[in-house]
Order: sequence, then C-alpha cells, then structure tokens
Amino acid sequence: MANIVLVGAQWGDEGKGRITDLLSSKVDMVVRFQGGDNAGHTVILNGQEFKLHLVPSGILYPDVECIIGNGVVINPEALLSEIKSLEEKGITTENLKISSNCHLIMPYHIALDGASESRLGSSKIGTTKKGIGPVYSDKASREGIRVCDLLDPDLFWRKLNDVLEIKNVILSKVYNVKTFEAKEIFEKYTGYAAVIKKYVVESTFLINKALDEDKNILFEGAQGTLLDIDHGTYPFVTSSSTIAGGVFSGAGIGPGRINEVIGITKSYCTRVGSGVFPTEETSVIGDLIRRRGNEYGTTTGRARRCGWFDSVIIRYSAMINNLNSLALTKLDVLSGIEKLKICVSYKVDDNIYKNITPNCYVLEKSQPQYIDIDGWETDITNITEFNELPKNAREYINMIEELIKIPVSIISVGPDRNQIIVKDDSLKKRFF
Ligand code: GDP
Ligand code: IMO
Ligand code: MG
Repeated sequence: MANIVLVGAQWGDEGKGRITDLLSSKVDMVVRFQGGDNAGHTVILNGQEFKLHLVPSGILYPDVECIIGNGVVINPEALLSEIKSLEEKGITTENLKISSNCHLIMPYHIALDGASESRLGSSKIGTTKKGIGPVYSDKASREGIRVCDLLDPDLFWRKLNDVLEIKNVILSKVYNVKTFEAKEIFEKYTGYAAVIKKYVVESTFLINKALDEDKNILFEGAQGTLLDIDHGTYPFVTSSSTIAGGVFSGAGIGPGRINEVIGITKSYCTRVGSGVFPTEETSVIGDLIRRRGNEYGTTTGRARRCGWFDSVIIRYSAMINNLNSLALTKLDVLSGIEKLKICVSYKVDDNIYKNITPNCYVLEKSQPQYIDIDGWETDITNITEFNELPKNAREYINMIEELIKIPVSIISVGPDRNQIIVKDDSLKKRFF
C-alpha cells in the first residue's frame, strides 16, 4: 500500500471525487488539503448521488477517517448543511475531523468576491462567488480568522471587530455595497461553533501519527493544476495550491511521506469560468460533449466549456505534479463520436510548442495542432477489462500514454462506483 495524492490535471471537475471514493475502500484516511466549497465532487453509489464540497469523498465508507486539513478554507454554514445532507442520506459523519487551523470564510469574504467580480465586468474571473479569493488574501495578509479563533468567543469577538472595521470601509467606500454588523456575524458564527466544536482536531498530529503507524492515506485534491495560484493560467485561477506540492503545506507533512501521485483527467477537456482554453469547441462538438457528459457545474450549475483532450496541458501537469499515472474519466462520453481529436502541440506565431508554460497571454495566441483518431460506436459503460474495450478506444488511450509518457492506470466508463477499468496491475492488486 502507499500514500497517494490525487490531483486534477486540467481545470477542475475531472472526476476527483469519484476516483477518491473508488480508492477509499482500502485506505484508513482521506485528507482534503486546499480549496473550499468552491469544489464540487460528485460521487454516485448505486444510482444515489452525493455532492461533496468540503467533506472528503471518503465519507461514504464509515470506517475511513476523513480530515479537512489546515489548507482548506471553511464556510461553516456550507459545512453544516453538507453534514446534515449526508446524515439525512444515512451517511455517518462520526469520522469527520476538521483542522483547528483552517481559515473561515466570513460573510464579508463572499460579499467582496461578488463585488470584485462585478467591478471587473467583462474581465471577471468567473469565480464561484464562495469568497475563496478574499479568504486566502486575508490568510496571506494575516487578517484571517481561523477555526481555533472561533472556539474562543472573546478572541473571536476581538478579531471580528478589528477586521470588520476595515472590511466595512472597503465594502461601502470602494464597492458601494452593504456593510456588516459584528454582532450579527458573532451570533451566527458562535452558533456554528457550538456544532462544529466536536469535529475540531490538531490535524497535523493526527495525520503524521497515522503515517508513523503505516496507515494508508489518500490526499484528495480540489480544483485542478491549471487553476493553481502559482502554476495555472493566472489570473484566471483559484487562490490555493491545487498541485501535489500543496499537500505538504495544506496537510502539514514532509515530502518523503508521499509514494504516488495520480493525475485525474477527463477523456476530453472542460473549464468553468473565464480564461484561456486552447482546445475549446464552441459549436456543435462542444455542445454534443456538454450534453453527453452532462457538463454543468456541481457547485454553481454553470454550463462548462467543452473541448478536445489537450496533451500539452497534461504533459505540463505530469511535470508539475510528478505524476506516476493518469486516471482517465468519462471515456463513455466519447462513444459514438465518429472522429476524435487530440491536441499534440500549439502553434504560437510561427513556432510549434509541445511543452509550454501556461501563461494565459501566450496561450491566447496559440493554435492547437491536432491528430485525428477514429472513434468507436459501441456502448462501453458495462466494460470492466481494458482488453474488452473497442479497438479504437484502446488506441485512443494508447495514444494518450504515448503523448504524455506515463501510463493510464484507471479508466472510468460511467459515473457509478463500479463503472471502472483498472488497467494497472499493481493498483489492481492493492485496491481490488
Ligand atoms: P470533481 O470535481 O473532479 O470531483 O468532478 P465533478 O464531480 O465536479 O464532475 C465530474 C462529473 O462527471 C460528475 O457529475 C460525475 O458523476 C461524472 N462522472 C465521473 N466519472 C464519469 C464517467 O466515467 N462517465 C460519466 N458519464 N460521468 C462520470
Ligand atoms: P472542483 O474541485 C472547476 C474555478 C472557477 C473560476 C476559478 C476561480 O470541483 O474541481 P474561485 O471561486 O475558486 O475563486 O474561482 O476557479 N473553479 C473551479 N472550476 N472545478 C472546481 O472545483 C473549481 N473551483 C473553482 O470557476 O474559474
Ligand atoms: Mg467539481
């Protein structure tokens, strides 16, 4: 067994939740290490749908410890509503734990996110409006309020008044929007604290102790590599370290603890929000993929932009995350498309690039260079062995492996837990 990091290799929504759920059957602990309720991870079990935003996707297994690590930002209202919805579906949250160091999303963060997007107008980032940018800004500028502060009412009151003084000036004078009353927030948040308290732990000790005891941990990424604050298509990114490296600060462990990194990628590509997307298809084929793949955001319901598989992007993700293998999801969505395309390089001005830094201003000028691959007609949603896939589907996967130079270890052919092909023998032995 091993400690594995699962990260999105594209712009999010690659199917991280369902792959985390799949591998959770054989681990002791699942840890989220960044992001907040901007994430939307869908897991389908025997037709029942679970939409997870903050709670790690290992939660469907009652014996797996699920940790919200220190790098995650928490909107307590969203967390409590998620816990309630899980409990109502018969899922226990007994094993859920929250780091006392998580920063809290406050109502003014959400208001500032919305106001900033409105000000940007047509240049907006297209955020989820969950307050993610403002809360991580406060964390960096040391104005943040953490879970541990919330559990100390005097400290919380002091910090809240202090920071609100500035936030209210910005809200009213810069953005001309509604301000907030400290008392109202205080009452609401201390109410949340009373419920959240029982979940709060010193997560770094818990995680490192589990590692010392040779337990197996899965680290579940949110968003995707191209949305990383340092390595993504800045400024059209999220505000956290979405890459495998984010685990070390976001969970509080050392680099030697990780044995394997798996990059999750769709068999095509999608993006929500603004920003460059070289292989985007804005007409018939994009609509077809969106319809067949049901490409609408789990968190915001927005239609996702759709396009072809981009090997330039995935090669970059493989490098940044040191990926050991790829989990290729939603292969079934491509069934019945006569001619498929894979982007192999970009043409920028008169130069051809197979590898490129995703500087959005350069990528905006890039023309994707494609190879054509014949599609397949057959329904593949019940196939569980690689060799049983249609020849052209196998060739599509072989081509991806050849272009990225790493193996595809898992292939998903439908959203339910068992609609999966495990191609890698070592993974098969360890997990199935
Ligand atoms: P995440 O954010 O990376 O966890 O991905 P999302 O859950 O936001 O988006 C993935 C969507 O695709 C979800 O609705 C899944 O139920 C669905 N899905 C995942 N794998 C497959 C698959 O192999 N085939 C199909 N048709 N749907 C899938
Ligand atoms: P999961 O974990 C897809 C995108 C937003 C926007 C940008 C910044 O489900 O893959 P933010 O609200 O984070 O400040 O928005 O990032 N974004 C996502 N896109 N999947 C996600 O999460 C996303 N989380 C944020 O659409 O473009
Ligand atoms: Mg998602």
